[in-house]
Amino acid sequence: MKREFAPATYPGLKGRAVLNTGGAKGIGYAMAQSFARHGAHLLLMDMDGAALVEAAAKLRAQFPEVRVETHSGSVTDEADVEAACAACEGAFGSIDILLTNAGISMNRPSTALTLDEWRRAIDVNLTGTFICAQAVAKRMIAQGGGVILNTASMWGLAASPRRAAYCAAKAGVISLTETLAGEWAPHGIRVNAICPGYIRTALTDELIGNGKLDLPAIEARTPMGRMGTPEEVAEMAVYLASDAAVFITGHAHLSDGGFLARTF
Ligand SMILES: NC(=O)c1ccc[n+]([C@@H]2O[C@H](COP(=O)([O-])OP(=O)(O)OC[C@H]3O[C@@H](n4cnc5c(N)ncnc54)[C@H](O)[C@@H]3O)[C@@H](O)[C@H]2O)c1
Repeated sequence: MKREFAPATYPGLKGRAVLNTGGAKGIGYAMAQSFARHGAHLLLMDMDGAALVEAAAKLRAQFPEVRVETHSGSVTDEADVEAACAACEGAFGSIDILLTNAGISMNRPSTALTLDEWRRAIDVNLTGTFICAQAVAKRMIAQGGGVILNTASMWGLAASPRRAAYCAAKAGVISLTETLAGEWAPHGIRVNAICPGYIRTALTDELIGNGKLDLPAIEARTPMGRMGTPEEVAEMAVYLASDAAVFITGHAHLSDGGFLARTF
């Protein structure tokens, strides 16, 4: 029998304040919807101002009881991140959960990868995650705890040709997650990484469109026979952020339809 996606409910998430980077689109937006469904309040930060306005309007219409604020800026800019933190605290009084979804792909043969491209992939995916985690953790330590979920990738756990900068950045995000989890556990902060496999979003649609991803090959290679949905990844985030996961910290959690498990 084919099992349909069945989201769970975590009542403890109601009223929590969530700062969600890259929240305007794709996996970040799906996470925004999942947390809003639980009654959590949202500060969406994204560098795509137009998408941010559209995402906030859709969320407010769908979840009228939830407060949705936005901050347009880049996770690579400390001042932008500080302003987003201040906006979240100003609106909701705290930052209880940080979701670092802002990220970019970088698919290019390693001999053709420019230093600028390498730096951009590391800057957005890894340094941006650190800037956000550090800024938020200072506040979480003061308030006595919180949850940080860093969106890494299955390509942070395994190698993929022509993705040197992306793989290195995402492996870095996983290592950062492990390090920060150990450092901040005494302060009541849990830090985990979410590692999606191939998920259908604007990012992957563009890569499929320009031939950098081969959809039939991905489907054939994935034991579940398909790409995942952003909602399926978001479901892992609400679980990990919930009090159902209070003993889970410092790990990378895959949602990949079995992709990495298959070695044949
Ligand atoms: N889609 C997949 O298959 C997949 C797989 C593994 C990991 N991921 C990771 O999931 C995250 C989200 O990916 P997605 O597929 O939803 O991508 P997406 O392009 O649909 O969404 C990413 C969002 O991040 C924003 N963003 C990019 N750079 C930013 C910056 N410097 N500051 C603030 N916002 C910025 C974009 O404007 C966009 O709204 C990324 O970190 C990506 O690496 C995606």
